[in-house]
Amino acid sequence: MGKKEKKQKQQQKTSRRGASYYRNEEDEEDYDFNNNYSQSLASSSLSDQEPEHDDSNEEEEKEEEEEEDADDKTASKKGMPSKFLLYQQSVQSPKGDISYLQKFFLLYVGGRLPLHLQEDFCGTALLSTEWLRNDSRRTAVGVDLDLEALNWCIENNINKVGADGYSRISLFHGNVLQPLAAKLVNFESQEIMNSIGSKDCKDDSESNEVKSAVQVGSSTSTDDMYMKRNVQLVPRDIVCAFNYSCCCLHKRVDLVLYFKHVLDVLSKKGGIFVMDLYGGTSSESKLRLQRRFPNFTYIWEQAEFDIIGRKTRISLHFHLQKQQRKLRHAFSYTWRLWSLPEIKDCLEEAGFQSVHFWIRQMPDTEASRRTEGFGAGREIKYEEAMTFEQVDAWNAYVVAVAN
Ligand SMILES: C[S@@+](CC[C@H](N)C(=O)[O-])C[C@H]1O[C@@H](n2cnc3c(N)ncnc32)[C@H](O)[C@@H]1O
Repeated sequence: MGKKEKKQKQQQKTSRRGASYYRNEEDEEDYDFNNNYSQSLASSSLSDQEPEHDDSNEEEEKEEEEEEDADDKTASKKGMPSKFLLYQQSVQSPKGDISYLQKFFLLYVGGRLPLHLQEDFCGTALLSTEWLRNDSRRTAVGVDLDLEALNWCIENNINKVGADGYSRISLFHGNVLQPLAAKLVNFESQEIMNSIGSKDCKDDSESNEVKSAVQVGSSTSTDDMYMKRNVQLVPRDIVCAFNYSCCCLHKRVDLVLYFKHVLDVLSKKGGIFVMDLYGGTSSESKLRLQRRFPNFTYIWEQAEFDIIGRKTRISLHFHLQKQQRKLRHAFSYTWRLWSLPEIKDCLEEAGFQSVHFWIRQMPDTEASRRTEGFGAGREIKYEEAMTFEQVDAWNAYVVAVAN
C-alpha cells in the first residue's frame, strides 16, 4: 500500500476520545458559586477534537513530514506557533479546574470566598491568569522551574487579563521543594512597580479592597526578591498542582516535604490543596494517543512502564498540518505514577486534616471499545469516591484540607 493510501485509510478510522492527559471543557463543573459564575463558562465545540488511538505505523508518518526542532525559539522564527500556545490549547482546561476549585473550597472550608491562589508547577500559569479574570480582589502566585515558560506567561497570558493583571500576580522561578530560594520574576516593565504595593498583607480575605499579591521591603531591589525571605505574600486560600505535576517528584520524602511547604502557605483560617492524578490499567503500559484540533494534532506518548520505580516517560508532540511540520518532544517528563493511597498517606503525614478523592472514569483507550469510549467522556463528572473499581483510565482530583 502506498503512502497516500495508508494516509487515507488512517483518516477513515473512527476517531474517539482516549487520553487521560487532558480534561476537556465539558469537565467544567457548572457549579453556581456566587450566582455570577457558572453559566459564563462557555463550552467549546468538541466535534472536531476527538482523540484517536494512533496505532498506525509511526515510522512511515515520520518520513512524510519534516521534523521540527522542539526548541520554541527556533520554532517561532520559522513561523511555527509557540509550543506553549499549543500546549495550552490542547492540554489545559483552566475554567473547568477553577470551577472545581471553588466547589471544593466551599464544600470543605466555606464561610468566605477563596481569593488567593497559588499554582505550583505553574508552567505558563494559564490557570493563575484565568483566576484573576473574574474578580478584581483575586491574587495569584505561580512557581515553576522553567523560566522560559514564566516569561512566556508574562508576554502572552498576563497581558490579556486587564490593566491590573501584573499587580495581582507574582511568578517565582524556582523549585517547589526550596521555596526560600524561589526568585520573583521581574516583569521588566513599570507593571512590576505597581506590584510592589504598600498594601497590607494581613490574612483578611473577606476584605473588599483590591490587594496586591506581593509586598516587599522598601530597600529591596527587584533583582533579589525571594519567596518568603523578603517577599511577603497574602496567605493562600487554595494551592494547586495540576496536570500530574506531583509525579515530577519521585521520592516519598520529597513529596512529604512539598506538602509541608504547601501547608505552610495556606491561610490559618482554612484552605485547600488540590492536585490531580491519572491512572488505570492503560496507564501502566506503552501508549500513544492523538487528538485532532483544527490546525494541529496533539500526541501523547507514554513509554514503557517500570513497575519497580513506577516510572514512565511522557512525551508530547505536535503535528502542524498547515506548516507540514512536527514539533516532536515539545514537552517530556519522567514521572513516578503515585497511587492515590500513597498520596493520601503523604498528605496526612505532612499535617493535612482530611483528604478527599474526586474521580471520573475516562474514555476507554482500547480500540475494541472505541464507540463506547467516544460517548462516555462527555457526560461524566468527577464524583467524590471512597472506593473506585479499577478501569482502563481514570482521572482524579485529590483535595487536602487544612484547617
Ligand atoms: C506537567 S507540567 C504542568 C504545567 C501546568 N501546571 C499545567 O497544568 O499544565 C509540569 C511543570 O512542572 C515544572 N516542574 C517540574 N518539577 C518542578 C519543581 N521541582 N519545582 C517547580 N517546578 C517544577 C516543569 O517545569 C513544568 O512546567
